[in-house]
Amino acid sequence: MRSLPYFCRGPVIRGFGRGSKELGIPTANFPESVVDSLPADISTGIYYGWARVDNGDIHKMVMSIGWNPYYKNLKKSMETHLIHKFKEDFYGQMLSVVMVGYIRPERGFNSLDELITAIHSDIEEAKRMLDLPEHTKLKEDNFFRTSISTTTNQILNGH
Ligand SMILES: Cc1cc2nc3c(=O)[nH]c(=O)nc-3n(C[C@H](O)[C@H](O)[C@H](O)COP(=O)(O)O)c2cc1C
Repeated sequence: MRSLPYFCRGPVIRGFGRGSKELGIPTANFPESVVDSLPADISTGIYYGWARVDNGDIHKMVMSIGWNPYYKNLKKSMETHLIHKFKEDFYGQMLSVVMVGYIRPERGFNSLDELITAIHSDIEEAKRMLDLPEHTKLKEDNFFRTSISTTTNQILNGH
């Protein structure tokens, strides 16, 4: 995928809320404008990278792009799970992410347990991959150095 690493930023909107409740794996959803701006070569599937909420710390993340075949969603979504325990939800706050690498395609599962097991293994894979020096250095990118204004609704997409 030529477009990786892919940087993007947008406000966190409400998803279906199943991530936290049913899976125990909260995800932050991007608005349609960010999803629609993805370059054509970024296929649906599961990615790993770095993420930051507003001007907070930079955390490892896993992201799912697509229609969540297990739930048969009708709208394409981009959902980020930050590998960090947050005390509160961050709806409305700015999420900055860099997608660094691809893990696997999205798939359907026979049970919720299988979906949860797959996501946990994605998280372990992401943690391992992001420790590689060529991936750690993306955390230092200027993209994460700029201070985010929380009063303007800026949306950014780019390579
Ligand atoms: C790392 C990761 C991998 C995922 N893999 C799949 C998948 O293979 N198939 C699928 O249907 N959904 C997958 N999902 C999406 C979950 O089904 C989704 O996060 C859940 O429906 C919660 O969405 P909600 O917050 O909009 O309610 C994945 C999510 C993450 C974070």
